[in-house]
Parts: sequence; C-alpha cells; structure tokens
Amino acid sequence: GYLPMTVQMSVMISTEEIQAKVKELGAQIDAHYANSDKELVLIGLLRGSVIFMADLCRTISKPHELDFMTVSSYGGGTVSSRDVKILKDLDGEIRGKDVLVIEDIIDSGNTLSKVLEILETRSPNSIELCTLVSKPSRREIELDVKFLGFNVEDRFIVGYGLDYDQKYRHLPFIGLIARAIHPGDDKAGFIVTTLLGIAGSLVATYGGRLLGL
Ligand code: PRP
Ligand code: MN
Ligand code: MG
Repeated sequence: GYLPMTVQMSVMISTEEIQAKVKELGAQIDAHYANSDKELVLIGLLRGSVIFMADLCRTISKPHELDFMTVSSYGGGTVSSRDVKILKDLDGEIRGKDVLVIEDIIDSGNTLSKVLEILETRSPNSIELCTLVSKPSRREIELDVKFLGFNVEDRFIVGYGLDYDQKYRHLPFIGLIARAIHPGDDKAGFIVTTLLGIAGSLVATYGGRLLGL
C-alpha cells in the first residue's frame, strides 16, 4: 500500500539564483569555445543532469549536439569496488569533437573520473566538465572542473535534477532536507514524527488563538 514519506525541506538555492547561475555558465561556455572550429557536444549523465542540461543548453549560443550516457552508480561499496559500468552509451561519435560533460552534482568524483577515462579512449578534441553543484569536502578523486555553479557543504539536498530515492528531481530550486523518515524503514519513528508534525501544525495554526496570544 501507499504510505507517504514525511520530509521537512527548506530552500537552499532558489530558482532565481539557479537561473542566474545557468546564464552565467552559458556565457562562460560560449566564451571558452568561441575560437574552436571543432564541433561541440554536451554529454549529460542520466538521470540527474537532465534538468540542468535542458536549461543550460538554451543559454549557449554556439551550435552544439546533445548526447546522453547512463552509468551504474556504485552504491555503498568500498572504494576499490567503485567500478562504474556503462548502462546506456552515447548515441553519437565524439572523435575530434569538443566534449563538455554535464553533471548536476559532483560528490566523491568517482562517477566523473571513470566517465572521463572512458571518453578519453575515443579521441575527442577536448573534454571539459561542467557541474551545477559540487561538494568539495566529499571528494575522493580530484577533478579539474572548468565550469562550476555552486560549491556546497555536505548536506542532504534535492531538486533541480537531484533525487532522493528518485523523487524531487522536478523541483525548480535546490532544497535542503532536514529530516526524512521512510514509513517502511521505521514505522514507530514514522508514526511519532507524523503525530508530532500534526501536533506542531495544529499548535502553529491554532496555538496562538488557544493561548489567547
Ligand atoms: C549522482 C549524481 C552524480 C553522482 C555523483 O548520480 O547525479 O552523477 O551521483 O556522485 P560521485 O561524484 O560520488 O560519483 P546517481 O548515481 O545518484 O544517479 P542519478 O543521476 O540517476 O541520480
Ligand atoms: Mn547522476
Ligand atoms: Mg541519484
């Protein structure tokens, strides 16, 4: 059956801040590739990058292709087992082209470092990285990120492509999750949190009146 998950979320990066940054990055990208006569291709890593890539590509004036790749996430394995496999490869060739890899977020850096290894074997003219968000404190592998939106603390964030259990990607802002409880994981905790939440809203709504404030 369906049981909703309770979350408490606040806005960390607003829609307006994101849109301003996306425009800024588009201008930087245009400036960077202005003097290259090679074809430009944006490569998005599914699924997280789609929202950012869709907005970003519309701020880039230089004509370019879009292509996509899905790689396996390594889950919670040890560093040595963090092997990244291609689940869906690019549809087009990148030989001789300027490749710009687009990510929503760089965390440990494992995904992008493996993707770069794979793409470099295909002899592109150049490869650069663009990410909207980066968590530098989480980095296990250093990456040279040419186009960066926001450095953020290691907090639990969702929205604008970033998911929590495949949800919240559609939010136009980046939200900070303060607390999340899966009903399936912890039924007692879920019930307590829900009751406290309801009690809290009742107090927030009616408390003042009841207390005569
Ligand atoms: C997330 C995110 C990056 C990657 C970053 O993708 O979108 O692709 O993890 O982590 P890393 O720097 O530690 O490798 P995820 O595997 O969750 O897949 P998704 O894009 O479909 O959400
Ligand atoms: Mn991803
Ligand atoms: Mg994810």
